[in-house]
Amino acid sequence: MSDAIIGRRHARIAASVENRRLVAGWLFVVCFMIWVMVGIGGYTRDTGSGLSIMNWDPIIGALPPLSAAAWNKVFALYKTIPQYQILHQGMDLDGFKALFWPEYLHRLWGRLIGIVFFVPLVGFIVTGRIEARLIPWLVLLFVMGGLQGAIGWFMVASGFDPNSVAVEPWRLSLHFSAAMFLFVSVLWTALQVRFPEAVRRPGLAGLRLWAVAAVICLCLTMFAGTFVSGTQAIKVFDPAHGVGVGMPPPGWPNVDFFTDKAAILFNHQTLAVLTTITILTTAVLALRGRAPKPVRDAGLAIAGLVLLQFVLGVTALVSKLLDVGVAHQMDAVLLLTAMVVMLHNLRGATR
Ligand code: HEM
Repeated sequence: MSDAIIGRRHARIAASVENRRLVAGWLFVVCFMIWVMVGIGGYTRDTGSGLSIMNWDPIIGALPPLSAAAWNKVFALYKTIPQYQILHQGMDLDGFKALFWPEYLHRLWGRLIGIVFFVPLVGFIVTGRIEARLIPWLVLLFVMGGLQGAIGWFMVASGFDPNSVAVEPWRLSLHFSAAMFLFVSVLWTALQVRFPEAVRRPGLAGLRLWAVAAVICLCLTMFAGTFVSGTQAIKVFDPAHGVGVGMPPPGWPNVDFFTDKAAILFNHQTLAVLTTITILTTAVLALRGRAPKPVRDAGLAIAGLVLLQFVLGVTALVSKLLDVGVAHQMDAVLLLTAMVVMLHNLRGATR
């Protein structure tokens, strides 16, 4: 059989509806796994576990310590870092294990995502189920996943600096932002594979503009949120003195937006209000207008998720409950997902 015939045959197989569903389904699974990873990452951060594993070993590090001697070795390593010396002097092995497992799970889940991405990718390429033009892009996404791990290590390494008990907030922000960029890239690719044709949507250009504005506000609020967690700004929340209750702190805006904790709380909350208003307006426009069902469904989802996000944010602040903070972070990603789905549905919007 000539190369041209084989090439045409591959293109036909790759474009078939079943294969598109298969490939899109696989990418949706990867998105789901990244979302779970955001939850594990949030839990790791909020329990202060992130510095408990001191080496970066993508292959051998997949195995946890398997003997008492191995546990003592990793614990001895942990005892050399400032976090142990400043915060956890006298901690016993069980205390160390409680710190170790969340970080271990976080890294293990990262490796699993890599495998779930890589193995089917090779399988789909070999069997010709992926369109040739998509292959370089998918390979790039895989490389970006590897980079995400490297950024994670770059972040963790800052926590070993002298006198440091936590990672540098801007590196945490970089780690989370890169994860979101990767997540949206995989999600958009999955949607493109599943629904390749942009359906014409006359009269919805205005709604699309609102949706774009809402996504920009959402990304800014999420970015600002990373500094709330990274600097543990929640510690300065003090309603009796008006700190963290939506009022500009003294000297604002002539303060350092990335280190002044009261300003960090205020900025996140102000952006959150702006985002909530923009998203709710987008939802109302989608639900009241002549938008087709998928757009209306997305409208309903963004309205519900943004309200939940607001409630979770306030609860996380007031209660200081760790699990609520994690839920707040995971809901932010669901909200981003719903916004991206709406935008994807509005690709063909015209005036
Ligand atoms: C549209 C609304 C909101 C969005 C999209 C949003 C997004 C986020 C994100 C993505 C984070 C975590 C980032 C990271 O991984 O480090 C975060 C943290 C946080 N946000 Fe929000 N937020 C919103 C509203 C609010 C509101 C209204 C409050 C309180 C008044 C709030 C309080 C907090 C607190 C206390 C944290 C730290 C939680 C922790 O450390 O676990 N947020 N926010």
